[in-house]
Amino acid sequence: MRNLIGIAGLKREEIERLLDRAESLSAIMERENKKLPTLSGRTIVNLFFENSTRTRSSFDLAAKRLSADTVTIQASSSSTEKGESLRDTVQTLSAYNPSAIVVRSPHVGAPGMITRWTDASVINAGDGKHEHPTQALLDAFTLRRRLGELDGRNIWIVGDVLHSRVARSNILALTALGASVTVCGPPTLIPRQIEELGCNVSFTLDGSSEADVLYVLRMQNERMEEDQSFIPSVREYARYFQINGKRLGANQLLMHPGPVNRGVELSPDVVDAPQSLITEQVAAGVAVRMAVFYELLAGRGPDGGAAKEEAAQVQGVKSTL
Ligand code: NCD
Repeated sequence: MRNLIGIAGLKREEIERLLDRAESLSAIMERENKKLPTLSGRTIVNLFFENSTRTRSSFDLAAKRLSADTVTIQASSSSTEKGESLRDTVQTLSAYNPSAIVVRSPHVGAPGMITRWTDASVINAGDGKHEHPTQALLDAFTLRRRLGELDGRNIWIVGDVLHSRVARSNILALTALGASVTVCGPPTLIPRQIEELGCNVSFTLDGSSEADVLYVLRMQNERMEEDQSFIPSVREYARYFQINGKRLGANQLLMHPGPVNRGVELSPDVVDAPQSLITEQVAAGVAVRMAVFYELLAGRGPDGGAAKEEAAQVQGVKSTL
């Protein structure tokens, strides 16, 4: 694997290999010395054209834990409006000879385009409403830790599916791992033909009490056109779709990619309920992103030999688990 642009196209075995590696790496993260020398001397560029707290900080930390040097650029999305300026930015950054470029962009397809302009591995940290593969991997990792294998598990993804790259990547990842996925929301927030990704569709929460997991999405106001109204009002939306204490069963798990609009898609109390995995999702982000860097970079480049030794070390840790 050279780039990670989406979950689309990944085989179950490839997803499982990344999750297994994240598991071994998270065991190392429990040691006092959390650093591995794997990417020492390499440079990783984080290029963020959209706001981010969790994704950006965990990519940065993951790179540092593997001893890479990092450069983080938070740019305004206006500079990407023309393909040309994105290309200029990438070519400028390529002067640092980075091993990987992590990119978040409001434009669908930007990470794929960047692969044509650089020798670095490109990792999609979210492109418009298209994909957010590392989020789906960390969600699958969190769930697998809680539930074991996901085969036959019933997972509902509730809310603004239309504008959600997290939903798309999660439908692909969770179904690839054998789960049954239902997306749920008002018809205006469910994209047409989403079933083609392999999920079921429900326009009401009826039946959600059967789910093992309720994965709730943020209302993505920033992706809605100003003159278009997708819901009659937040109040009305909350009345039918907000997950609150009454709608979350004692044995159901609750997930959300963050940031949460408390009082809109989730009632404030459920965010911190015992069923909530929201903090575990954030914590999983570092190990999973380390695993992605490892997969894409460790066997490649000038210190490929050293990286192989490292791989053996990680394998060793795994076998002692
Ligand atoms: C998501 C994103 O940016 O796509 N957040 C994240 O990466 N943790 C989801 C969201 O913004 O609602």
